[in-house]
Amino acid sequence: MTEPSSDIAAHIAELRRVIGYHGYRYQVLDDPVISDAAYDTMVRELMELEQAYPELKTADSPTNRVGGAPLERFEKVIHPTPMLSLDNAFSPAEVLAWYERVTRLLPAPAAPGEAMQTDHTDFVVEPKIDGLSISLLYQDGVLVRGATRGDGYTGEDVTSNLRTIPAIPLHVPLDPQAPLAAPPLLEVRGEIFLPIDAFNTLNAQRQAQGEKLYANPRNTAAGAVRQLDPAITASRPLTFIAYYIGVTPNQGLSIPLRSQWEVLQTLRTLGFPTNATNRLCSTIEEAIQAAQEFFRLRQSLNYQADGAVIKVNSLALQQELGIVGRAPRWAIAYKPPSEEAVTRLERIAVNVGRTGVLTPFAILEPVRISGVTVTNATLHNEDYIRDKDIRAGDWVVVKRAGEVIPQVLGPIIERRPPEGLPEWHMPTHCPVCGEPVERDPAEAATYCVNDQCPAQLVRLVEHFAGRGAMDVEGLGEKLAAQLVGTGLVHNVADIYRLTKEDLLPLEGFAEKKAVACLAGIEVSKTRPLARLIYALGIRHVGSTIAELLASQFVSLEALMAASEVDLQHIGGLGPKIAHSIAAYASREANREVIAALKAAGVLSSAVSPVQPAASNALDGLSFVITGTLPTLSRQAATDLIKSHGGRVGDAVSKKTDYLLAGEQAGSKLDKAHRLGVPILDEADLRALIQQRSAG
Ligand code: IVH
Repeated sequence: MTEPSSDIAAHIAELRRVIGYHGYRYQVLDDPVISDAAYDTMVRELMELEQAYPELKTADSPTNRVGGAPLERFEKVIHPTPMLSLDNAFSPAEVLAWYERVTRLLPAPAAPGEAMQTDHTDFVVEPKIDGLSISLLYQDGVLVRGATRGDGYTGEDVTSNLRTIPAIPLHVPLDPQAPLAAPPLLEVRGEIFLPIDAFNTLNAQRQAQGEKLYANPRNTAAGAVRQLDPAITASRPLTFIAYYIGVTPNQGLSIPLRSQWEVLQTLRTLGFPTNATNRLCSTIEEAIQAAQEFFRLRQSLNYQADGAVIKVNSLALQQELGIVGRAPRWAIAYKPPSEEAVTRLERIAVNVGRTGVLTPFAILEPVRISGVTVTNATLHNEDYIRDKDIRAGDWVVVKRAGEVIPQVLGPIIERRPPEGLPEWHMPTHCPVCGEPVERDPAEAATYCVNDQCPAQLVRLVEHFAGRGAMDVEGLGEKLAAQLVGTGLVHNVADIYRLTKEDLLPLEGFAEKKAVACLAGIEVSKTRPLARLIYALGIRHVGSTIAELLASQFVSLEALMAASEVDLQHIGGLGPKIAHSIAAYASREANREVIAALKAAGVLSSAVSPVQPAASNALDGLSFVITGTLPTLSRQAATDLIKSHGGRVGDAVSKKTDYLLAGEQAGSKLDKAHRLGVPILDEADLRALIQQRSAG
């Protein structure tokens, strides 16, 4: 045996330290600074070194661990059995090598006709969703505890957050008459994730509001699950896919489980979502092929997957193979080839958003990355470009993960020409209107502050007319550009002055479409105050803040008259938002728009102001409110119910008398349905009040 040199010992110690640090950033902070691929490479190197020099392996090596320590904020939970990690394979040859290890450890396959269950040529291939693994515990059929993985042995109790995720069943059938009854104690594990389209929508909203963008769906999901306030978790469209049953699954289960494939079928029958792309394969070659097919399919899916998991199908064989270190021997994560490519950055251009925020992006020499030709990639902001030292003319690494927008990760400095390349700076003038730009000292963002800038105006009109705002049927990106480009619209109030004669000459317009469009514009005049406030596109005022403002001010005029100090006193408004609203209101051009909106007949007051202490018609009744109501803000509805003696709670339970539901109601509505809680809309509520005060 070779004696390890002190150099190797030092290198191993350094690797452990670096891996430990990055594990902490990923597991505990949800803020990794290196790619998963780079992390995996280091862990592999450490494992190889520890294998070559077993005397240098220590009990506290990160290869013994599954992840980092849990955060302190939630109650700790000890997992009934550890939540394991997986070893990786990066090529078919490595998968075959794993298979050979498996075969060596197992008895020869049984002769045909004998115990079929020991046939280890059966595999299940499952997508490896890049989310957040969790454990769910059902006691007597009811979800009693949900926990994160944490370090694999101890996780965090996030039950109330997990209960907000619609894909997670709150109970499972226990009735022996049901097609399949669960045991009195059932543990289910799986992955929580944020679908890519939801992630993109969330980031688009944040960009429009000049807020910092989330890095990727995985961290966003992890952040949402670790919110102390379950309402925030509920507001993120998280979902779940199950792949594992723990805690002696056969105990009490009405059908015994023999294989992973049966586990997946059983999970489905019990009400857990499983992945439609799971495959049962009868040879390892077939399994490799199924995984590779999945890699090709990956780009078209609505979730991020960082590989495929190949599992030995038989549970008896799984048991026999057991666990080594941090991972089971019976499964392997097969990772696809890289999604990164190197190309030349030809030029850095700048895009102007609705709030005037300037976003630099790269114009690239076209390059194919996992089957798609990429010509543009985001560069985020000026600081990102400076920190990474990215310059036009550089060879750069471009990554295209599941997200729609590819990213420039950084330059390859060694390939920069010896004479160097010029540094890039944000333009001092808006690339569209030519007016000087301003950098917000508090943020990384630079803004075009000219509210006449056509680029901003197109995006503002699009936002104003968008869903969640004034929701004008037929007024999207294309028409917004046409209206601004032809000079028909100089501000959002001009929309309400459009006539059929204005629209007919526009490309793609005929009588019918023009009439429909004008009808859509007319209908939008009656949107509730919160929608109107949101539609104005005031920086940092998203839909939630707009709701809050609508609950505090009787009209848009009242809001515009409020001083910055008044605004700062409203709970939930930070100084940044208060300043932004006051700055908006102080601009003459904005005040004119608001006056014009009112003159055009857009409702700018909260409808049906609440009468205090109206009656005791709702005495003793408890309500929960969900979704967007047609005229009442959340606060106004609460006030209305309370003024008639009712109570308003946060969560639906068997004790809830009524759920007051509006548009885009989510999990509360599902829960009310399940518990048989009657559901009212706003009109029903008014009718109920009338009926009970009359009677
Ligand atoms: S099996 C007992 N199946 O990958 C083996 N894991 O690197 C571990 N993952 O912590 C679980 N999809 O978060 C398994 N279909 C799948 C998976 C999956 C994603 C994650 C899971 C686990 C990690 C291991």
